[in-house]
Amino acid sequence: MGKAQYFCHRTKPMKSEKQKYDFDTPIDRRKTNSVKWGSRTVNRESLTSLSVADMDFAVDEHIVAALKKRIEHPIFGYEFMPDSLSDLFCEWQLRHHGFNVDKESILYLPGVVNGIAISILTLSEPGDGVVIQPPVYPPFFGVVENNDRTLLLNPLLYNAELASWSMDLTGLEELFLQNRPRLMLLCNPHNPVGRVWRGDELKELCDLCQRYDVVLISDDIHSDFIFSGHSYTPLANVVSPEGQGFVQLLSPAKTFNIPGLGLAYALIPDAEQRKAVQDKVGAMGLAAPNILASTAVQAAYKHGGHWFDSVKHYIEKNHQEFREQISTGLPWARVSPFEGSFVAWVDLRESGLGHAELAHIIRHEAKLMLFDGLSFGDNGEFFFRFNLASPRSVLQQGVEDFIRALTVGKERGRFKISLDNVIERKCCG
Ligand SMILES: Cc1ncc(COP(=O)(O)O)c(C=O)c1O
Repeated sequence: MGKAQYFCHRTKPMKSEKQKYDFDTPIDRRKTNSVKWGSRTVNRESLTSLSVADMDFAVDEHIVAALKKRIEHPIFGYEFMPDSLSDLFCEWQLRHHGFNVDKESILYLPGVVNGIAISILTLSEPGDGVVIQPPVYPPFFGVVENNDRTLLLNPLLYNAELASWSMDLTGLEELFLQNRPRLMLLCNPHNPVGRVWRGDELKELCDLCQRYDVVLISDDIHSDFIFSGHSYTPLANVVSPEGQGFVQLLSPAKTFNIPGLGLAYALIPDAEQRKAVQDKVGAMGLAAPNILASTAVQAAYKHGGHWFDSVKHYIEKNHQEFREQISTGLPWARVSPFEGSFVAWVDLRESGLGHAELAHIIRHEAKLMLFDGLSFGDNGEFFFRFNLASPRSVLQQGVEDFIRALTVGKERGRFKISLDNVIERKCCG
């Protein structure tokens, strides 16, 4: 990434609606304990990271200004969540997704993953089955198993021709019938494959859950990143009111690039379930909000709309260029259709190389940190996930290094195969 500086443009006036944001200039995060860029164990100095799903972009200046103002007050005691936090969130959902949130259904949490964990602990018993659909965000595995529930897998179906993914609803019904799970975790948009589940798919899923008395917990953390031709369907819009309830988890973390601050929204329409989850949150001592998170989130929902539109547009353009670069440089590789989230999921099975060899080439020859497909489940073999939320020049350079290393690696693999054939023939002949 060269000699990037943390450029401090905070002294400049706030940007008006028409001004452009600078997403192009790289910001060095290596010295900030960034999980994406640094580590105690791995020397990542010489590597470029396109891995962990946060963005290498400065947040909206309104967020920084609000935080600065708050820290000028030198007391950081306990605070309650102001009403405005719910109002601003509801306005955002209505404006961006036409989603009419019932304010009463909102519960605050420090994060989406702990929201899933607390929902599991509240709405099921030890040993109960919880369904997940790999390839999926890695903590989905641990949050079930580490809370003493039984992990049940309903792998997504893959159409290699189109590089597209769908839910296996027939397999799911079979699983429901055989194992009688209590809960199911949904990811919408689905990290890492980028699917934005359509209303008809979700309706079918919800009907199945209702028939087999399965409560859905939907992780919708990426739901503000929905790209051209697609739209986000909140569970609330398709679930039957007579159903067994659901938990929908939303968050400003990805939207405004503030995951380190820790604040998420759980929507739990059923009053009894909501109270039970709220009691569990209290029992775990997690009810007190992070005051800087609440300050930042209010500023974000109030003033961050233009920044968000701009960053989303930038990422969509990044994706177009990414797809073109890959299809020109590695015509045999397949990139899954880009519907939602800011990650790209790439299928490298046609390289003829094994997964471990691919991982080695990417890390040691391309010098890239990507997310390894196998960490999303067994059907992530031969896949790697790119995070597209980087300055375009960093992404382009990373993809160029990726293409160069894989081209050499594939050629070497081909040579090795033909050499093996010669040796084989000699031995046998
Ligand atoms: C699908 C998904 N859920 C949850 C999270 C993390 O959310 P939180 O930090 O609020 O627990 C991520 C982060 O990458 C994610 O991709």
